Amino acid sequence: MDVLAHYLGKRVVVTGCYSGIGHATAQLLIEAGAEVYGFDIKPADLALARFAELDLRDPRSIEAAAASVSAPVDALFNCAGVSHALPAPQVMKVNFIGTRYLTELLVPAIASGSAVVSVASNGGAGWQNNLALLKELTATTSFDAAADWYEANSAAARAAYSFSKEAIIVWTMQASATLIARGIRINCTNPGAVQTPMLEQIEAMTSAAVIDVVAQPIGRRSSAQEQAWPLLFLNSAAASYINGAVLPVDGGFLSARAMDEAASQAPVGRA
Ligand SMILES: NC(=O)c1ccc[n+]([C@@H]2O[C@H](COP(=O)([O-])OP(=O)(O)OC[C@H]3O[C@@H](n4cnc5c(N)ncnc54)[C@H](O)[C@@H]3O)[C@@H](O)[C@H]2O)c1
Repeated sequence: MDVLAHYLGKRVVVTGCYSGIGHATAQLLIEAGAEVYGFDIKPADLALARFAELDLRDPRSIEAAAASVSAPVDALFNCAGVSHALPAPQVMKVNFIGTRYLTELLVPAIASGSAVVSVASNGGAGWQNNLALLKELTATTSFDAAADWYEANSAAARAAYSFSKEAIIVWTMQASATLIARGIRINCTNPGAVQTPMLEQIEAMTSAAVIDVVAQPIGRRSSAQEQAWPLLFLNSAAASYINGAVLPVDGGFLSARAMDEAASQAPVGRA
């Protein structure tokens, strides 16, 4: 099956289209002939069918962006995200609370047989260790309730970036069990080190050696496009039996870490 051909004439929404993985994803979808609606806080230099300003920290902005798309939506790509450079409540809102809210608002417009994919992170790979707390967060039923829950529980949640990515992973697995009744699949990816503006920001705060460790065993960082291709695959008919999956797109890092004592010293998840 030709993954690009799947998107010809399809209406798709991509968040985070201004830069990095979202930009590369939107670019591939435009090349495939999709009608691409790009959402971001910053306007993208792409030939989008439509751009809507979206601030995932603000529920009113999310509602306005969602209302700007008419049904049917054939695929949703949640690529927007921020690093731990921002204050913790903002990290939680962009990476999980706002992303979940946007998805829920768009679900009624998403056609049966379509799919949603979100970019999580290997930073969320430790979700099993935190499941009870994460389930409290995902049990909240509104943007404000989730934000209030986080404010009350931020000390227990500890590192906001990891927790936000653990939350998107757990919510993806939970939502996969219910959305499929409407014929909608939902999955997420766990990138390793990806050469984007976010990684440059992280590199300015962390040692490059740390990033080099998570770029093993493949020995190099991913390009944004190497992350975009799996996203296009997961939201296409070529992945029609893949639902609730958390796909590592990390050059083998997590597998090597699981199999090798030395690699298990590498910083990932809560570290
Ligand atoms: N780069 C990496 O190494 C890496 C690794 C693992 C996971 N990720 C994840 O990949 C996703 C994409 O990140 P990237 O590396 O392409 O970074 P990036 O900074 O290039 O892209 C992030 C995009 O999100 C947008 N954005 C930021 N705040 C927003 C807000 N409040 N509302 C709406 N949009 C907003 C930005 O404008 C930008 O277009 C993120 O979820 C990130 O956590 C990245």
